[in-house]
Amino acid sequence: MAKIYVTCRVFDDEIERLCDAGHDVTMRDQEGPISRDELLRNVSDIDALICLLSDEIDVQVIAAAPQLRIIANLGVGYDNLDVPAARKRGIIVTNTPGALTETTADLTFALLLSAARRIVEADEYVRAGKFLGWELLQEHLGHDVFGKMLGIVGLGRIGTAVARRGHFGFGMDVLYHNRHRNTEAEEEMGACYVSFEDLLARSDFICVHVPLTEETRHLFDKDAFRLMKNSTILVNVARGPVVDEEALAWALESGEISGAGIDVYENEPKIHPGLLKLRERVVLAPHIGSASEATRRLLARIAVDNVIAVLAGREPINPVS
Ligand code: NAP
Ligand code: GLV
Repeated sequence: MAKIYVTCRVFDDEIERLCDAGHDVTMRDQEGPISRDELLRNVSDIDALICLLSDEIDVQVIAAAPQLRIIANLGVGYDNLDVPAARKRGIIVTNTPGALTETTADLTFALLLSAARRIVEADEYVRAGKFLGWELLQEHLGHDVFGKMLGIVGLGRIGTAVARRGHFGFGMDVLYHNRHRNTEAEEEMGACYVSFEDLLARSDFICVHVPLTEETRHLFDKDAFRLMKNSTILVNVARGPVVDEEALAWALESGEISGAGIDVYENEPKIHPGLLKLRERVVLAPHIGSASEATRRLLARIAVDNVIAVLAGREPINPVS
């Protein structure tokens, strides 16, 4: 009987599937992130780990789990895992690519629209009883989205799904920057490959969809914000540390850029006070990119499928390469 540890609450039917496959499952049935000590204590005799992208699975955790055969991350990003260290030990790492693409693209567009049209501020205004009727010079004059220039940094799965929404739904022209060209997107929607600097200078909306790596950490720093138009709105649904939060707060405060829609933060769950105090055209979400019920169920299903496969001696469905 293989032992499985799950670091967070997971849907009952998925836990049952693991038990039905003959495994001994312990699920941490508590809210909030697991502490380092608790994590280290609970991995000592396990064969499989199902974890969150907020759980740091580094060399120390891997060393504390001598029997570990698979780490199944509940999400697509895996910057929380030391993949080379796992590989060195022969541990398989899996994630959930594709399963959350459209859901995360929906959230990206929701943040873009909310920041541009000041939806959150308008909602607060109405609830505070301040709405006294239609006026030409209304309080919440925002930015148009239709027909504007959309810049995507990281035109992969999610970036492409966002670009489609912008191009086909809102008549936007799409600029993008990757390390490699995405010729399919170029053909499909006329997306134009440009340098990072060119994208910053020409876009009205910039959506960030790169993974967090040593190359992308603080890709958006003060210099990057200085290159943007003063009317630009930045949307980050990738990883917090891709954007220097201090520089973002400065750029918003000083009018270097116009607004932001942010789902991810440098030191989650902490949020830079400079961002928290800004309300005009700044919309903050608590890392809910993939948070539709159907998609979260799918993530759990995929992680469980991967664990069952590996513990049965089969190939994983979504190995991280
Ligand atoms: P993906 O398909 O791998 O796309 C990533 C894109 O980034 C690729 O187009 C890649 O193109 C580009 N890229 C990678 N390194 C780059 C660099 N140094 N400079 C420029 N471009 C670079 O991944 P995805 O499924 O779209 O997910 C993207 C990220 O979104 C995940 O890694 C995760 O961190 C984040 N995410 C967040 C949420 C949320 O809830 N907020 C939900 C899902 C995912 P090249 O290889 O050609 O450079
Ligand atoms: C969410 O942030 C993910 O990477 O799936």
